[in-house]
Amino acid sequence: MVELVRFQEHRGLRIVRGEMQYVWDDKGNRYLDAHTGHGVAFLGHSNPRIVEALCGQASRIMTLTPAFTSELEEELSERLSQIAPRGLDSVFFQNSGAEAVEAALKLAWAYTGRNRIVAFKNSFHGRTHGALSLTWNPKYRKGFPLMGEVVFTEYNAPHEELEKVIDDSVAAVVVEPVQGEGGIVPAKPEFLQSLRKLTREAGALLVLDEIQAGFGRTGHTWAHEPTGIGPDILLAGKSVGGGFPVSLIFTRPEIAESLKGGRHGSTFAASPLAQAAVLGALRVFAEDHVPERVQEGSRELGDLLEDRVSGTRPVRSTRLAGYMVGVELRFPPGKAIRCLQTRGVLALKAGATVVRFLPPYMITSDDRHAIAGGLRECLCGEYGC
Ligand SMILES: Cc1ncc(COP(=O)(O)O)c(C=O)c1O
Repeated sequence: MVELVRFQEHRGLRIVRGEMQYVWDDKGNRYLDAHTGHGVAFLGHSNPRIVEALCGQASRIMTLTPAFTSELEEELSERLSQIAPRGLDSVFFQNSGAEAVEAALKLAWAYTGRNRIVAFKNSFHGRTHGALSLTWNPKYRKGFPLMGEVVFTEYNAPHEELEKVIDDSVAAVVVEPVQGEGGIVPAKPEFLQSLRKLTREAGALLVLDEIQAGFGRTGHTWAHEPTGIGPDILLAGKSVGGGFPVSLIFTRPEIAESLKGGRHGSTFAASPLAQAAVLGALRVFAEDHVPERVQEGSRELGDLLEDRVSGTRPVRSTRLAGYMVGVELRFPPGKAIRCLQTRGVLALKAGATVVRFLPPYMITSDDRHAIAGGLRECLCGEYGC
């Protein structure tokens, strides 16, 4: 027998089945899944429309080099154009979030001819070499020789501070509109607006990493939308394949041009299966009015959390951006997360002290009560309120 290595702590459950917002373990216990595999199952587990798209495609053709076109491309292009930020009319596929970040770096370097990248404290962009170099947390970085030309600055820093680091040596500024892994911290609109203005003046690219926050999760198609700015490159991942591993890079055609002629590529990217998954996800997204559903549900969940946990002794603050929800405690959240699991709710950690909930868009009012009520019971039971 070989060991099937896992690099994360095991949560003690063997999950055998998933159906929309719920998963079941091998003993038949049901859990409300507000972990969703770090946000991947935002469109639900085994959403029937995505299963149908994938199974239909699997029986026709699964793999194809991008040198050939697939029969899906027309509808895919049409549907992607409905969600693409203005001017970002070139889209290409990768297989994971970190790969999308790597591709964005190559685009920025190739397009600007510069090296330096500006990233932010508490950022998370993935664990491959370039992506890890932009990831702030020393826990992930320590012991690896990373790219030198990265400058970390304060997230939500004022304009005067940003001015000091964004100059004409910078290829790109890479930022999450809501920091997920860093603790569910939304960017202030004026911070993103300053980044847009300064990158434009410096001739640098603005890359928005919406791998966790994008595709409806915050109650908008893209998390940055309420700020009114437009990026040069937008990265989407996690939920865009409805559970299938795929990521998307949206950019302007002249920027995409800079990697043509074989300067970028990936064997599995844009396989017909990945395309079918994204197509299925896009159909669900449009037909179910996903961002609107999140906005409505998030209002109720916010009220419930306010009522049940805000102001209790263990809670420092509660932050919501749609269905990116963070409850910051006064201590590490491990015990609370384990307790929630015993009460049938799966959550995860963010930052050092935050209980994070990333539920799917179709959770019901009962599910929202289960999250807020379960958290209250766990916090008060474990720590006292
Ligand atoms: C904002 C952000 N960027 C990039 C990544 C990396 O994505 P992946 O794990 O698919 O490589 C993540 C994953 O959590 C993320 O949250």
